[in-house]
Order: sequence, then C-alpha cells, then structure tokens
Amino acid sequence: MTNLSHLAYYIETFGCQMNENDSERIAGVLDAAGGRRAASAETSGLVIVNTCAVRAKSEEKLYSYLGRLRGMKKTRGLVIAVAGCVAQLRGDDLNAERPFVDIVIGPDNYHRLPELLAAGGTGARALTAWSDGWNEDERRLLVRASPTSAFVTIMEGCNNFCSYCIVPFTRGREKFRPLRAVLADVETLARSGYREIQFLGQNVNAYRDAEAGAAFPDLLDRAAAIPGPEWIRFLTSHPRSFGPEIIAAMARSRAVCRQLHLPLQSGSSAVLGRMNRGYSRADYLAKIRGLREAMPGIHLSTDIIVGFPGETEEEFGETMSALAEIRFSNIFSFRYSPRPGTSAARMGDDIPLEVKRRRLAEVQALQKTIQTGIHQSFVGRTIRVLGTGRSRKDPAVFSGRSEGYQVVNFSAADDPVGRFVRVRITSAGPYSLRGEAEAFEPLPPRSVDYHP
Ligand code: 5AD
Ligand code: SF4
Repeated sequence: MTNLSHLAYYIETFGCQMNENDSERIAGVLDAAGGRRAASAETSGLVIVNTCAVRAKSEEKLYSYLGRLRGMKKTRGLVIAVAGCVAQLRGDDLNAERPFVDIVIGPDNYHRLPELLAAGGTGARALTAWSDGWNEDERRLLVRASPTSAFVTIMEGCNNFCSYCIVPFTRGREKFRPLRAVLADVETLARSGYREIQFLGQNVNAYRDAEAGAAFPDLLDRAAAIPGPEWIRFLTSHPRSFGPEIIAAMARSRAVCRQLHLPLQSGSSAVLGRMNRGYSRADYLAKIRGLREAMPGIHLSTDIIVGFPGETEEEFGETMSALAEIRFSNIFSFRYSPRPGTSAARMGDDIPLEVKRRRLAEVQALQKTIQTGIHQSFVGRTIRVLGTGRSRKDPAVFSGRSEGYQVVNFSAADDPVGRFVRVRITSAGPYSLRGEAEAFEPLPPRSVDYHP
C-alpha cells in the first residue's frame, strides 16, 4: 500500500451535504494511507478541492480558489487536486486549461487517490470513470467531521433529468447502497454515541434494495428500530416519488424528525412542466396537506428557482402565492443558471439578469416575513435542541438545531455539544432563535465494546 506519511493534506469543500460526506470519505482514504490532516491550505502539502457544479456561481468558486492555490504553488511545493462535481463534469478540460492542477478526480474514484499521489498526478487525463457498485471497503474508512451528527449516504445519482439540473451529468444514474450496509453503519454510529443521522442521496425516495426487497419506507422503519440515534433526517426528496407510504413511515417512527426538505422549484404548473419535474402545483400542495395531516406542526423547507426560461410575471406570481400559502420554515432560492448539456440550456436564458435579481429579492423578502412570523411564535416556548457548537458571531453563545432544523443560539452553564438540551426561547429573528438552556437531558451510556 502507498505510504503518504510525509504528506499533510487539507480538504476544501464546496456544495451540498453529499460533498461534505464525500470529503469525509476522501479523508478516510488518505488517513488509511498514512496522510496527516493540516489545519489550513497554507500549512499543507496537498490541497483537495471538493467542488460543486450546480450553478455557474458554484463552479466559479473553484476557479477563484484555484487562483489562490496557484499563487501558493509558485512559492512552495504544493500538490493540487480537484475532486467532486466540477472534476467529473469538466474532466480533461480542467487538466488542459489549468496545467498547475495535478489531479482531477471524480466521485467514483477517490479510492485511487493514494496511488495517484504516489505517481505524481493524473497527467493529461482526468480520472472520471463511473462505477456501478458501491465501494464499501472505502466507506468503512470514512473519518467523520462531527462526533454528534452523522451523514450516511444511501444512494447516489439521479434518473429524473430535471431540465435545468447538472446532477445526472456529475453523479450519474441512480445507484443504491445495500440495506445491510446502511443498517450496519447506523448500528456502529448508535454504539459510538451519535445523536443524529442524516441519510443522504440526490433522490432518497427512490431508494431500493432489490435483494432485501426493501424500499425507502422499509429503510426508515429498520433504521428507526435501532436504539440510539434520537433524530433521523433525510435529503433530498423529490415530490414526484414522495408518496403516502413515506409519509406513513415518517409518522409512525419515534426517531424521524418532523421536518422535511421538499424542493418545489416553482409554484407554476407550466414552469414545472418545462422543468420536467413530473408534478403540478396541485400535486405538490396535496403532498403538503398529507404531510401536515399526518404530522401536525412539521417543518417544511424547499428550493426555489426564479427566472427559469420563459418564466412570465404571472408564472412568477404563482411561486410567490405558493410560498405565501405553504409558509415554509426555510427556503433556499436561486436565480436560474444555464448548465452545459442540460435540456434547459437549449431553451435559451431569456430572462434578463435584472428581472431575475428583482424576482429573487421579492421571494426572499416574502420568506423573511413568513419566517419571522414562524420564529416569533416560538418565543416563550421551551424546545428540544441538539447542541452542535458555538455561535459564529459570539463564541460565548452556543449553537444547535431544533427538530425542525432551525438554528438556535443559546446560553448554557455547561458545554452542550452532543447533548439534547431544553432551551427556553427568549427572542427570534428571521434566520434563528435565541434562548437559554433550562435543562440537559442525560447522556445515554456508550457501549463499551465499541473500538473506533
Ligand atoms: N440554476 C439555478 N438553480 C439550480 N438548482 C439546480 N440547478 C440549478 C440551476 N441550473 C437549484 C435547485 C436545486 C438546488 C440544489 O439548486 O433549486 O434544488
Ligand atoms: Fe453541487 Fe449537486 Fe454536486 Fe452536490 S451533487 S456538489 S449540489 S452539483
């Protein structure tokens, strides 16, 4: 096996939770080969940039970061690797246009990193081959960033081909992790004291394990039956494949959080049609009704795109009215960005930038009002919070998440990281709640037979 004991590495992660989990996977591969973690790019001998290609802006982040790395490389030896979705998408072009990049490697190839480092790079050809199966050996090495909350990838890729979306080109077609491997992971995490598990996949609802005869609701049932992690979440769901069986599995589970991220993208059925989303506004609203009937008070969040090709003022107005009607606890909103190879890129990007900007500002202003109202209704209540760290603005204040995935900043006499805390909410802004810890829940005993 390659020995990388001379190498201090640093991973810079852009993009979604899947990329965060993949960076833990990369760290596992490098650590197993003897690599050491560096605290920053400046103090490392190898920088791996794990990249996102979902919008042009995400990709630009890589190029400006690479500019910085190139400067560092001029003054000292530095190995530069580009991993993740831009590596997969741009492949050989990345090597050709930026010869100072030593390694270009897609998500299915991370197990080969040590061998490439020993050989001095990928040279002219990016490593972007797809593999059909799961590399469980490599996943077992994964080094987790948090001792409290764990990501567990259950599937990868997407077969939906939403017309705007690059993901089928960066992550390939759907493939599923065997159920027994998922459950074994949950058991290990339970034994080592993890309090929260987040199942990940580009389209988790499509999950299936043919051999085990299991679909996504079975996975939820089986995972929730494992004693330990009190909170289970999952993302991302697709409204098209989000059916009553999943709602029922969520509702009957002790551990599945009353929280769901369900991307709407647009409130206009016509735009949804052009996006190839496979549901109408009415379909989506019916799913929301089903969720709220089964789980009153459930926190819902969503993604919105404004300025999709051909989006009229009227169609945009339907997105605004859907937001007002549904009242999401949180949204992520974006200006449409044409991506190479997608079918929407051939429709023409006809909405002027200033119109997109104005629509985005309108969406965000409306949501700010809605969120402020929701958050205000928590003032005076005591809620359960999982402590995750310290507030970014004020390190004397702790930070955590509610079951609804709201950010809660709070004062506490003891360190609450990794603990469930009852927090009395004293004030609220549009993006977070503030409060005071009233009581810590006791920690469950950790199993003595666990050897990390
Ligand atoms: N332009 C703008 N936003 C996009 N998203 C995905 N592709 C694009 C694009 N081409 C948004 C969607 C998706 C989220 C992760 O990013 O809202 O749900
Ligand atoms: Fe970005 Fe999508 Fe890749 Fe995640 S899967 S890093 S959101 S392009």
